[in-house]
Amino acid sequence: MITFDQTNHIFHLSNGRISYVMQIEEGGNLAHIYYGKYLAHYSGGYRYPRIDRSFSPNPPGSKDRLFSLDTLMMEFPGNGFGDFREAAYDIGHQNGSHVTHFVYQGHEIMQGKPVLAGLPQTYGDADAIETLCLSLIDETAKLELKLSYSIFSDTAAIVRSSQLINHHEQQVRIEQFASQSIDFPNRPLDLIHLHGAWARERQMTRESIQIGTKRLDSKRGSSSHQQNPFSILADPQTNEVQGTCFGFSLIYSGSHETVIERDPYQQTRVIMGINRDHFNWQLNQGDIFQAPEVVLAYSDQGLNQLSHVYHDFYDQHLIRGNFKNKERPILINNWEATYFDFDEDKLDHLVDEAKALGIELFVLDDGWFGQREDDQTSLGDWFENEGKLASGLAGFAKKVKDRGLQFGLWLEPEMVSGDSELYRSHPEWRLEVPQRQPALSRSQYVLDFSRQDVRDHIYQQLQKLFDRVPIDYIKWDMNRNMSDVYSLLLDPAQQGEVAHRYMLGLYDFLEKLTTAYPQILFEGCSGGGGRFDPGFLYYMPQIWTSDNTDAIARLKIQYGTSLVYPPSTMGSHVSAVPNHQTHRITDLSIRGHVAMSGLLGYELDLTQLTTAEKTAIKEQIHVYKEHRHLLQFGRFVRLLSPFEGNDTAWMYISQDRSEAMVFYFRVLAEASAPLVTLKLQGLDAEKQYASDLGIQGGDELMQIGFYVDPHLAGDYASQMYHFKAIDKPEM
Ligand code: DGJ
Repeated sequence: MITFDQTNHIFHLSNGRISYVMQIEEGGNLAHIYYGKYLAHYSGGYRYPRIDRSFSPNPPGSKDRLFSLDTLMMEFPGNGFGDFREAAYDIGHQNGSHVTHFVYQGHEIMQGKPVLAGLPQTYGDADAIETLCLSLIDETAKLELKLSYSIFSDTAAIVRSSQLINHHEQQVRIEQFASQSIDFPNRPLDLIHLHGAWARERQMTRESIQIGTKRLDSKRGSSSHQQNPFSILADPQTNEVQGTCFGFSLIYSGSHETVIERDPYQQTRVIMGINRDHFNWQLNQGDIFQAPEVVLAYSDQGLNQLSHVYHDFYDQHLIRGNFKNKERPILINNWEATYFDFDEDKLDHLVDEAKALGIELFVLDDGWFGQREDDQTSLGDWFENEGKLASGLAGFAKKVKDRGLQFGLWLEPEMVSGDSELYRSHPEWRLEVPQRQPALSRSQYVLDFSRQDVRDHIYQQLQKLFDRVPIDYIKWDMNRNMSDVYSLLLDPAQQGEVAHRYMLGLYDFLEKLTTAYPQILFEGCSGGGGRFDPGFLYYMPQIWTSDNTDAIARLKIQYGTSLVYPPSTMGSHVSAVPNHQTHRITDLSIRGHVAMSGLLGYELDLTQLTTAEKTAIKEQIHVYKEHRHLLQFGRFVRLLSPFEGNDTAWMYISQDRSEAMVFYFRVLAEASAPLVTLKLQGLDAEKQYASDLGIQGGDELMQIGFYVDPHLAGDYASQMYHFKAIDKPEM
């Protein structure tokens, strides 16, 4: 899969789907040649042309006026020595200089993929992976740059990461250090990315890339609601079903950045990694700084195919543990049913109703601990609020389990309330700058998870809880972003390290916890989908997609999320109407269809349901259970986009293409509306499929499609169609 042409100094990574080509250019400069569809051979003919570009310097040691790093397509560009574009790194030296120039020193091609210490990462069988590890050196500074490129035999993706090692006795200060950089030659390209806000996460936006620099980032100490660490570059004609596109997905849950620059020669550079703002890192002799991984995926058949690469890759090579490829339970969460206002009696009724409806897991959300009766208090006190549940937490959990449901609990371990026992005994454990009053958000502070003592204390509390209460599921929440990022344990000169040290501390904590309790299903959450990223998925196989449970708002949120994250990761609940976030009233049927399009749950007061609603929910649950594997792990295909019009549609296809489930959603009704035809995808053209529409050929369903029922009445309407392959009837 990886070859090195000794004569032309060309590295070629390929696997029958993609090729990635680099060349060691004059002076040991590492140049990018090609990334895209598989090339059986590369002749070396695409060498960067020699041309005199005025005001573009020649690299150190070269007198060739026709060669400049300012224009060359680079693999991991620096600046200060003649490339005036955006740089992948910025290193401050003791003499005050920021000039660092890495040149090729050697390489190793290995089977498998080396482990990244302390960070979430992709994995797989060593037999099916090859890794190229390139070593570059700055002789003056005695700094070594290691670039890692892994290629998996079954995936149209390259996994990249970078590492910096200081071999000098003098310390350097890393001001910026990206995970990857890549240059694209002159071609028109669009940028697609997922921006948003609380309760409006991962909205898909598309723009044409123009000359200049665009920066997409989060400075919030978390991957954020506002900007997911994921972007796509696409040929302008690319749509869901056709065209070339390149995805960039960062496996990190903290502050991140993606810088896209189009230079004067229309070449496009994409740099991705940890956010440089307020970041710096002291690197002493022998120290190694490891940047997180980026997964670069490729498709020449549109955005759906790009998503399939990510879905398969993350399902198989990122998500770990007992719940990998395992069907997830249907849950009831009491948050929107009761908020903080619950007692055991109320919960008992919820549990009874849930049981009768066929729900499998009861989740007790916020408010069970410390003195917590509202969001003003008790974060950090992870022991039960004695007065709240008559049988006590363990007794109540046991009762739930005796009734045949699993028991789940909400936690927010990274936070502390000012009004808490933890804060009163350890005020120095929050992130705060000396002599400054830190900012409050949702009345809470962020604990300094970069500190081992803080983590140990929280861990011990959770251990006690987990060992006492029979817990099957944990919802791990985080309800504010980081401000006042300062750790009292670190020197002033190291304060730029705190945000990343926090992430490393958190990852260390999660590794320990999820390893110690492999039987617990963990669901990530941050005020909904504020930390929906591949870093978290490494520890927790599912994430609460959004606090917005409105079916119509969810169309966009789930559509955008599906660009990179598989359906098996998306928590999705049916809630009450009027919806608590948008106040919209929608039918139970569309709420069910939207929630069934992810990991189905319910989050409403089941005791208030009418008999007709109970019957409808029972039926939803019955259908979901029957098709659960298809809906959680089937091939997900987007058919009609909520970002483009009134109609949304998506479908799921089973591995063997013998079954498919299609969902259609219409936002607003229209008089004399045009008819809508749904053309399916991914079926077997040779097979016949039976559905409520009759028996149709796979080819027919894909090429002609079928009409959505024109009699669908009213706003917020939806339809679900199940297709099952049948043996061809005898002619
Ligand atoms: C934010 C979460 O997203 C909600 O689902 C709920 O758990 C609240 N926090 C509880 O405080």
